[in-house]
Amino acid sequence: MDWEQGPSTRAIHAGSQAGDDAVGSLRRSVIGRFDSSRRFAAVMAGEEEGYLYGRLGNPTVLETASAIAELEGAGACELTASGMAAIHATLVALLPNGGHLVQAIQAYGNAASLIRDTIAPRFGVRVTVVDITDLAAVEAACGGGVNVVYCETIANPGGVVADLAALAAIAHGAGGRLVVDSTLATPLLCRPLAHGADVVVHSATKFLNGHHDVTAGAVCADRATIDSVHRIIVDTGGIADPDSAWLLRRGMRTLSLRVDRQCATALTLARWLVGRPEIVAVPYTGLPEHRQHGLAARLLDGRFGAVLPVEVRGGRAGGEALMDATRLIERVTSIGGVSSGISHPASTSHRQLSEDDLLLAGIPPGLVRIAVGCEDADDLIADLAQALAQLG
Ligand SMILES: Cc1ncc(COP(=O)(O)O)c(C=O)c1O
Repeated sequence: MDWEQGPSTRAIHAGSQAGDDAVGSLRRSVIGRFDSSRRFAAVMAGEEEGYLYGRLGNPTVLETASAIAELEGAGACELTASGMAAIHATLVALLPNGGHLVQAIQAYGNAASLIRDTIAPRFGVRVTVVDITDLAAVEAACGGGVNVVYCETIANPGGVVADLAALAAIAHGAGGRLVVDSTLATPLLCRPLAHGADVVVHSATKFLNGHHDVTAGAVCADRATIDSVHRIIVDTGGIADPDSAWLLRRGMRTLSLRVDRQCATALTLARWLVGRPEIVAVPYTGLPEHRQHGLAARLLDGRFGAVLPVEVRGGRAGGEALMDATRLIERVTSIGGVSSGISHPASTSHRQLSEDDLLLAGIPPGLVRIAVGCEDADDLIADLAQALAQLG
């Protein structure tokens, strides 16, 4: 095509191979077949392109991976069995034994526990945990040199955004690389590589798939970096399976429609919730009073994501009471799908964090996370209204 396509068009068409007569087809086979021993050996040696074995690559997996690479504006993408497989392979590929990792305190609970319980003790990596919104603290932490600065574009569930350009400058100045989990932003709201990040990871289980029926992940970066991530994925068996890759690609075709609607509804709900007597705070960057509203507006292209943090009066008991009172919004742990969900991070997804770290990560005891789906906004408001009325 001789014009630059828009994001919705690319979400539908990206990754299709020109001349491929079976675009979007599911190819499950885990073996490649060769017409000669010479070609078998050449593919094995990496001298010729071809498919050898499912754990190394598969046509459907590669087609979905190249679509995600195109959406992120990356040289290459590795599709993985889960978001955690993507984060694990990235950190293992980028961190030398005895290296230094600066991690956002706001990082997703399992990423934090992977770093704390495996990466640090098993690989001898020194870890410094910082408030990622405090650039002076990040700069000080990187002072003696760093290999990786790790953060999320929009933190789950606290909602703070990371100033990616500033963080990339700090990481690069200290000799390191910026790795960004952009699950909550999706490539439609933000393309971190364009802001100077070196690697983008996704839990494709969330918005990219969008239907709560696939577990998958992705790593996007330049070709050389993805080659080193690929070696870890091959050795640890972390590749996505073809069925998941196919379902993921099908879900991605409606990414733009879903995310547009989810973000608009999240803003509507935030405006409706703020100031209500049962609510302490709605720390959503879409609200102009949020301290990061200006940064978020620039970084996220005018939309603010569809994960809505809401602090309920009454602490942990208040948060749990709201969860128990919703009827349409389901009590589920995941985010980014077409159906809305509610969860209490302090007792579920972020239970690995101590009470102090929860507060530092922007997760007070009464915080619930509403993962906004694609239902009618009026129905979600009606559900929240009846649920809040029960809190007394
Ligand atoms: C921001 C973020 N990153 C990574 C993950 C891990 O993804 P997965 O569950 O696909 O391994 C999650 C899961 O909730 C997440 O919310």
